Amino acid sequence: MDRDKAQEIIEDLKQQINEHNYRYYVLNDPVISDAEFDALLKKLQELEKQFPELVTPDSPTQRVGGQVQAGFAPVVHRIPMLSLDNALGLGDLRDFVRRAQNLVPGAELEFVVELKVDGLAVSLQYENGLLVRGATRGDGETGEDITHNLRTVKSIPLRLRRPVTIEVRGEVYMPRSSFFRLNEERKQQGLPLFANPRNAAAGSLRQLNPKVAAARHLDMVTYALGYSPELTFRTHYETLQTFRELGLRISPYTKVLRDLEEVVVYCESWREKRYELPFDIDGMVIKVNDLALQERLGNTAKSPRWAIAYKFPAEQSETRVLGITVQVGRTGTLTPIAELEPVRLAGTVVKRASLHNEDILRAKDVRIGDFVIVRKAGEIIPEVVEVVKNKRTGREEPFTLPSACPACGASVNRLPGEVALRCFNPACPAQVLERIIHFAARGAMDIEGLGEASAAQLLAAGLVRDVADIYDLPEKRRELLKLERWADKSVDNLLAAIDASKGRPLWRLLYALGIRYVGERTAKLLAAHFGSLDAIMTASREELEAVPEIGPKIAESIREFAALPQSKILVERLRAAGLNFTEAAQAAASQPLAGKIFVLTGTLPTYSREEATALIEKAGGKVTSSVSKKTDYVVAGEKAGSKLDKARQLGIPVLSEADLLALLAQQ
Ligand code: IVH
Repeated sequence: MDRDKAQEIIEDLKQQINEHNYRYYVLNDPVISDAEFDALLKKLQELEKQFPELVTPDSPTQRVGGQVQAGFAPVVHRIPMLSLDNALGLGDLRDFVRRAQNLVPGAELEFVVELKVDGLAVSLQYENGLLVRGATRGDGETGEDITHNLRTVKSIPLRLRRPVTIEVRGEVYMPRSSFFRLNEERKQQGLPLFANPRNAAAGSLRQLNPKVAAARHLDMVTYALGYSPELTFRTHYETLQTFRELGLRISPYTKVLRDLEEVVVYCESWREKRYELPFDIDGMVIKVNDLALQERLGNTAKSPRWAIAYKFPAEQSETRVLGITVQVGRTGTLTPIAELEPVRLAGTVVKRASLHNEDILRAKDVRIGDFVIVRKAGEIIPEVVEVVKNKRTGREEPFTLPSACPACGASVNRLPGEVALRCFNPACPAQVLERIIHFAARGAMDIEGLGEASAAQLLAAGLVRDVADIYDLPEKRRELLKLERWADKSVDNLLAAIDASKGRPLWRLLYALGIRYVGERTAKLLAAHFGSLDAIMTASREELEAVPEIGPKIAESIREFAALPQSKILVERLRAAGLNFTEAAQAAASQPLAGKIFVLTGTLPTYSREEATALIEKAGGKVTSSVSKKTDYVVAGEKAGSKLDKARQLGIPVLSEADLLALLAQQ
């Protein structure tokens, strides 16, 4: 191919990719599949590799630059980045409207109400349509240049759809699901956890190496105009619409409202609904729509008089630390837990809060007897935000993590490079209990009736000492019946559930074994690649690392597990019990749903979500969490919610459980 032809194709590919990105991130209306998109990107990458001189900085392949920055250069904002005044209740909101109205008597006020996304304010400068600089807010006058990191955020266009010069502002945030995934990964790797999505986003943007930010799944919405020498606007809402036309992502939840009452109703409608959003918000922002009126209202030193933040009360409360205990996890990790005076928080009573690890415990300096602020950042176990230091009496007792495991007495150590202390005794009863709970959990072997309480009971009665003992329980029926709360029927159910678990797919077994770093996804990849547990257990490091996405750390961990004599005994006992050790050969013919994308919503009459997902995946289909044009079917059960509405809106076929089974049986 000659250079001119290559250039032509490259331009065409870039345009196509940008268009699809726009449809995906801004219009929320993709028209091609992820695989098709990846194919376009790959084609572009290949051509650019052949003709490196044709690579431009705005190419979609150039989001992650190769350069690690030496530091952050200061960026002076042409127009200061103001902050917002807070309205803490309806009274404050009413005062805000009244004050504004008094300053512009006779004017008809109209408001734009937006979500207050809990992330970090950033500024993006585009010159002739090209992203030239991205900066943090800093102190409002001067921020820091974080262009290298902002370029990695896929919802930030590297080139606008028109060659305008403009500076826009908005919020970069981390969706909650990405936050949980990130912390899960960090936990497995023994790295300190982020306290909330906001801190995680901030930590990601403060990286000198853009590769880190690129792996963090950040998102952005734009909500304010900075410097705009070319475009002029009449209203804020119109400004937002232009942002969207330019290819910038705006929030779909923004409303234009006419009076205080409408504003209050809309704001209040988000108070509880906010937990259904995929990201955190800490309130609503109310802005005067008319830009001429904004101008007349002006600013105070720190914040505009034409806008206010209506804050939802933080989901945090103050309580007292009654004690600090230490939990021993499945892999022996010691986690300090604050035992609290019970307190109401986000609708539940909280009695315990995680202190994560020794470093965090020390950094927060939590002592027994301290008053602390606890918060629920979407997790099940809340966390201690900070100590209320001015309530200290001097009688509080500092806590040091023990040098011996509280469950078995073995000495505990830190592995090099890890923050967590660990107990390395595989027979440690606390670890055994957690291993059994994990093994039997939904998503793993899914043994109903073998939850936390019954596992602890069986362990205490000496009926199980490791997971293989679960399969000896049918012979111990009489002993089981002697336990408190167990009767014929519940024992029958448990034994039936144990029996049913023997046929679970290989990946579930592999995941259930609880090998460090082997999560569900890794287990699926390994099972599909090797086809049997024996092949995985005998694979060399090199063979393991040859599997895409499997790195040295995972390979090492599997090798370690496989080499332990007790693992070998465990595997043999599971084999003797008749567990499925192989991946059923999946011929193309047995994949009636190959390539089809499903979304599940509501409660199905007989199958659990996990089971339905497994059925679909086994037939070659894929289950995703949100409905879009790419979705082929929505399977709806009882209490199906907004996903069902969306499916109807988009004309996507809606199936019942029975319809799904019929579809599976077709071929
Ligand atoms: S407007 C002059 N709109 O809230 C007005 N801010 O407490 C500038 N924020 O620093 C801000 N969502 O980081 C505005 N829809 C929204 C927002 C928003 C979140 C943040 C932003 C700002 C902080 C002020």
